[in-house]
Amino acid sequence: MKKEYGFTAKIYDPMLYLALNPIRKAVLKELIDHRESRILDLCCGTGNQLKMLSRNGFKSLHCLDLSESMLEVARRGDHSINVHREDAARTGFGDGEFDVVILSFALHEKDRKTQLEIIQEAHRILGDDGTLLVVDFIFDERTSGPGRFGATMIERMAGGEHYRNFKGYKQSGGLSEIIGEKMFRHANSIRRAYGAVTISTYRRSP
Ligand SMILES: C[S@@+](CC[C@H](N)C(=O)[O-])C[C@H]1O[C@@H](n2cnc3c(N)ncnc32)[C@H](O)[C@@H]1O
Repeated sequence: MKKEYGFTAKIYDPMLYLALNPIRKAVLKELIDHRESRILDLCCGTGNQLKMLSRNGFKSLHCLDLSESMLEVARRGDHSINVHREDAARTGFGDGEFDVVILSFALHEKDRKTQLEIIQEAHRILGDDGTLLVVDFIFDERTSGPGRFGATMIERMAGGEHYRNFKGYKQSGGLSEIIGEKMFRHANSIRRAYGAVTISTYRRSP
Protein backbone atom coordinates (compact mmCIF):
# COMPACT_ATOMS: atom_id res chain seq x y z
CA MET A 1 0.00 0.00 0.00
CA LYS A 2 2.82 2.40 0.87
CA LYS A 3 4.51 1.91 -2.50
CA GLU A 4 1.23 1.84 -4.43
CA TYR A 5 0.53 5.48 -3.63
CA GLY A 6 4.18 6.50 -3.37
CA PHE A 7 4.27 8.70 -6.45
CA THR A 8 0.55 9.47 -6.61
CA ALA A 9 0.66 11.00 -3.12
CA LYS A 10 3.07 13.68 -4.32
CA ILE A 11 0.90 14.85 -7.23
CA TYR A 12 -2.60 13.94 -6.01
CA ASP A 13 -3.72 17.34 -4.67
CA PRO A 14 -2.26 19.60 -7.39
CA MET A 15 -3.23 17.25 -10.23
CA LEU A 16 -6.85 16.91 -9.10
CA TYR A 17 -7.30 20.41 -7.66
CA LEU A 18 -9.68 21.73 -10.33
CA ALA A 19 -11.84 18.62 -10.21
CA LEU A 20 -11.84 18.14 -6.44
CA ASN A 21 -11.92 21.64 -4.98
CA PRO A 22 -15.61 22.31 -5.82
CA ILE A 23 -16.43 18.90 -4.32
CA ARG A 24 -14.44 19.64 -1.12
CA LYS A 25 -16.35 22.94 -0.79
CA ALA A 26 -19.68 21.18 -1.27
CA VAL A 27 -18.78 18.68 1.47
CA LEU A 28 -17.86 21.57 3.78
CA LYS A 29 -21.29 23.08 3.14
CA GLU A 30 -23.04 19.77 3.83
CA LEU A 31 -21.23 19.43 7.17
CA ILE A 32 -21.39 23.07 8.25
CA ASP A 33 -23.59 22.28 11.28
CA HIS A 34 -21.08 19.67 12.50
CA ARG A 35 -18.27 21.99 13.64
CA GLU A 36 -18.36 20.50 17.15
CA SER A 37 -18.80 16.89 15.98
CA ARG A 38 -16.24 14.09 16.12
CA ILE A 39 -15.40 13.47 12.48
CA LEU A 40 -13.44 10.60 10.92
CA ASP A 41 -12.37 10.56 7.26
CA LEU A 42 -11.92 6.87 6.38
CA CYS A 43 -9.43 6.37 3.51
CA CYS A 44 -8.56 10.07 3.85
CA GLY A 45 -5.62 10.04 1.39
CA THR A 46 -3.74 13.35 1.62
CA GLY A 47 -6.20 14.71 4.20
CA ASN A 48 -7.18 17.48 1.82
CA GLN A 49 -10.87 17.45 2.82
CA LEU A 50 -10.14 17.56 6.54
CA LYS A 51 -7.62 20.38 6.09
CA MET A 52 -10.41 22.44 4.55
CA LEU A 53 -12.70 21.58 7.49
CA SER A 54 -9.90 22.49 9.93
CA ARG A 55 -9.42 25.90 8.27
CA ASN A 56 -13.14 26.46 8.72
CA GLY A 57 -13.26 25.91 12.47
CA PHE A 58 -13.97 22.17 12.77
CA LYS A 59 -12.26 20.89 15.90
CA SER A 60 -12.30 17.10 16.31
CA LEU A 61 -10.87 15.70 13.09
CA HIS A 62 -9.42 12.22 12.48
CA CYS A 63 -7.82 11.09 9.24
CA LEU A 64 -7.27 7.34 8.58
CA ASP A 65 -5.50 5.67 5.67
CA LEU A 66 -3.27 2.65 4.98
CA SER A 67 -0.79 4.43 2.75
CA GLU A 68 2.14 5.98 4.58
CA SER A 69 2.91 8.09 1.50
CA MET A 70 -0.58 9.63 1.54
CA LEU A 71 -0.39 10.16 5.30
CA GLU A 72 2.97 11.89 5.01
CA VAL A 73 1.19 14.55 2.93
CA ALA A 74 -1.76 14.57 5.35
CA ARG A 75 0.53 15.39 8.28
CA ARG A 76 1.96 18.47 6.53
CA GLY A 77 0.68 21.92 7.38
CA ASP A 78 -0.52 23.84 10.35
CA HIS A 79 -3.50 21.87 11.64
CA SER A 80 -4.51 19.68 14.55
CA ILE A 81 -5.88 16.73 12.61
CA ASN A 82 -5.25 13.34 14.25
CA VAL A 83 -3.65 11.03 11.70
CA HIS A 84 -4.02 7.22 11.95
CA ARG A 85 -2.38 4.55 9.82
CA GLU A 86 -4.90 1.71 9.90
CA ASP A 87 -7.09 -0.50 7.76
CA ALA A 88 -10.50 1.13 7.22
CA ALA A 89 -12.12 -2.31 7.28
CA ARG A 90 -10.95 -3.03 10.84
CA THR A 91 -10.00 0.06 12.81
CA GLY A 92 -9.01 0.20 16.45
CA PHE A 93 -11.77 2.70 17.34
CA GLY A 94 -14.44 1.80 19.84
CA ASP A 95 -18.14 1.36 19.08
CA GLY A 96 -19.94 4.68 18.52
CA GLU A 97 -16.83 6.87 18.79
CA PHE A 98 -17.77 9.24 15.96
CA ASP A 99 -20.65 11.53 15.01
CA VAL A 100 -19.66 11.73 11.33
CA VAL A 101 -17.75 9.34 9.06
CA ILE A 102 -16.64 10.52 5.61
CA LEU A 103 -15.91 8.06 2.79
CA SER A 104 -14.63 10.12 -0.12
CA PHE A 105 -13.69 8.34 -3.37
CA ALA A 106 -12.94 5.35 -1.21
CA LEU A 107 -15.46 2.72 -2.28
CA HIS A 108 -15.33 2.58 -6.09
CA GLU A 109 -11.70 1.36 -6.16
CA LYS A 110 -12.18 -1.54 -3.70
CA ASP A 111 -13.39 -5.10 -4.28
CA ARG A 112 -16.90 -5.92 -3.08
CA LYS A 113 -15.78 -7.72 0.09
CA THR A 114 -13.68 -4.72 1.23
CA GLN A 115 -16.46 -2.26 0.35
CA LEU A 116 -18.92 -4.15 2.55
CA GLU A 117 -16.41 -4.50 5.39
CA ILE A 118 -15.74 -0.73 5.34
CA ILE A 119 -19.47 0.09 5.42
CA GLN A 120 -19.90 -2.32 8.33
CA GLU A 121 -16.98 -0.71 10.16
CA ALA A 122 -18.41 2.78 9.58
CA HIS A 123 -21.68 1.57 11.08
CA ARG A 124 -19.91 0.14 14.14
CA ILE A 125 -17.85 3.26 14.96
CA LEU A 126 -20.70 5.74 14.38
CA GLY A 127 -22.92 6.69 17.30
CA ASP A 128 -26.71 6.35 17.23
CA ASP A 129 -28.14 8.43 14.41
CA GLY A 130 -24.59 9.30 13.28
CA THR A 131 -23.96 10.67 9.80
CA LEU A 132 -22.23 8.81 6.99
CA LEU A 133 -21.20 11.14 4.16
CA VAL A 134 -20.17 9.36 0.99
CA VAL A 135 -18.57 11.04 -2.01
CA ASP A 136 -18.21 8.81 -5.04
CA PHE A 137 -18.91 8.29 -8.72
CA ILE A 138 -22.43 7.72 -9.96
CA PHE A 139 -23.52 6.58 -13.40
CA ASP A 140 -27.18 6.91 -14.29
CA GLU A 141 -29.47 8.90 -16.56
CA ARG A 142 -28.46 12.16 -14.81
CA THR A 143 -24.74 11.63 -15.50
CA SER A 144 -23.66 13.72 -18.48
CA GLY A 145 -21.38 12.51 -21.28
CA PRO A 146 -18.46 14.74 -20.19
CA GLY A 147 -18.94 13.54 -16.60
CA ARG A 148 -18.75 9.86 -17.62
CA PHE A 149 -15.75 10.56 -19.81
CA GLY A 150 -13.83 12.50 -17.13
CA ALA A 151 -14.44 9.91 -14.41
CA THR A 152 -13.48 7.03 -16.68
CA MET A 153 -10.28 8.78 -17.81
CA ILE A 154 -9.16 9.43 -14.22
CA GLU A 155 -9.78 5.80 -13.25
CA ARG A 156 -8.11 4.50 -16.40
CA MET A 157 -5.01 6.45 -15.40
CA ALA A 158 -5.12 4.84 -11.94
CA GLY A 159 -5.08 1.52 -13.82
CA GLY A 160 -4.61 -2.07 -12.59
CA GLU A 161 -6.79 -3.36 -9.77
CA HIS A 162 -8.28 0.11 -9.18
CA TYR A 163 -9.62 0.30 -12.70
CA ARG A 164 -10.94 -3.29 -12.58
CA ASN A 165 -12.78 -2.52 -9.33
CA PHE A 166 -14.09 0.78 -10.75
CA LYS A 167 -15.58 -1.11 -13.71
CA GLY A 168 -17.14 -3.64 -11.32
CA TYR A 169 -18.56 -0.78 -9.21
CA LYS A 170 -20.05 0.82 -12.31
CA GLN A 171 -21.56 -2.41 -13.64
CA SER A 172 -23.04 -3.52 -10.34
CA GLY A 173 -25.03 -0.32 -9.73
CA GLY A 174 -22.60 1.68 -7.58
CA LEU A 175 -23.33 3.05 -4.13
CA SER A 176 -26.97 2.09 -3.78
CA GLU A 177 -25.99 -1.58 -4.13
CA ILE A 178 -23.24 -1.31 -1.52
CA ILE A 179 -24.97 0.70 1.21
CA GLY A 180 -27.85 -1.51 2.26
CA GLU A 181 -30.90 0.04 3.86
CA LYS A 182 -30.49 -2.15 6.92
CA MET A 183 -27.48 -0.21 8.19
CA PHE A 184 -28.06 3.32 6.85
CA ARG A 185 -31.06 5.44 5.84
CA HIS A 186 -30.51 7.72 2.87
CA ALA A 187 -31.06 11.38 3.86
CA ASN A 188 -30.07 13.43 0.80
CA SER A 189 -27.78 13.60 -2.22
CA ILE A 190 -26.36 16.36 -4.37
CA ARG A 191 -24.47 16.09 -7.67
CA ARG A 192 -21.21 17.60 -8.82
CA ALA A 193 -18.71 17.06 -11.68
CA TYR A 194 -21.26 17.12 -14.50
CA GLY A 195 -23.46 14.68 -12.66
CA ALA A 196 -20.73 12.04 -12.29
CA VAL A 197 -20.15 12.50 -8.55
CA THR A 198 -22.68 12.22 -5.76
CA ILE A 199 -22.30 13.60 -2.25
CA SER A 200 -24.72 11.44 -0.32
CA THR A 201 -25.69 11.70 3.31
CA TYR A 202 -26.99 8.74 5.29
CA ARG A 203 -28.13 8.33 8.90
CA ARG A 204 -27.06 5.32 10.88
CA SER A 205 -29.85 2.88 11.60
CA PRO A 206 -29.75 1.07 14.97
C1 LIG B 1 -8.75 7.48 -4.36
S1 LIG B 1 -7.99 7.74 -2.79
C2 LIG B 1 -9.17 8.86 -2.04
C3 LIG B 1 -8.51 9.77 -1.04
C4 LIG B 1 -9.40 10.84 -0.41
N1 LIG B 1 -10.45 10.26 0.42
C5 LIG B 1 -9.97 11.82 -1.39
O1 LIG B 1 -11.17 12.11 -1.34
O2 LIG B 1 -9.20 12.34 -2.20
C6 LIG B 1 -8.31 6.23 -1.92
C7 LIG B 1 -7.53 6.10 -0.63
O3 LIG B 1 -7.94 4.89 0.03
C8 LIG B 1 -6.81 4.38 0.73
N2 LIG B 1 -7.07 2.97 1.08
C9 LIG B 1 -7.19 1.92 0.23
N3 LIG B 1 -7.49 0.80 0.93
C10 LIG B 1 -7.57 1.16 2.24
C11 LIG B 1 -7.85 0.47 3.44
N4 LIG B 1 -8.15 -0.83 3.44
N5 LIG B 1 -7.84 1.17 4.59
C12 LIG B 1 -7.54 2.49 4.62
N6 LIG B 1 -7.25 3.21 3.51
C13 LIG B 1 -7.28 2.55 2.34
C14 LIG B 1 -5.67 4.62 -0.21
O4 LIG B 1 -4.42 4.59 0.46
C15 LIG B 1 -6.01 6.00 -0.76
O5 LIG B 1 -5.41 7.01 -0.03
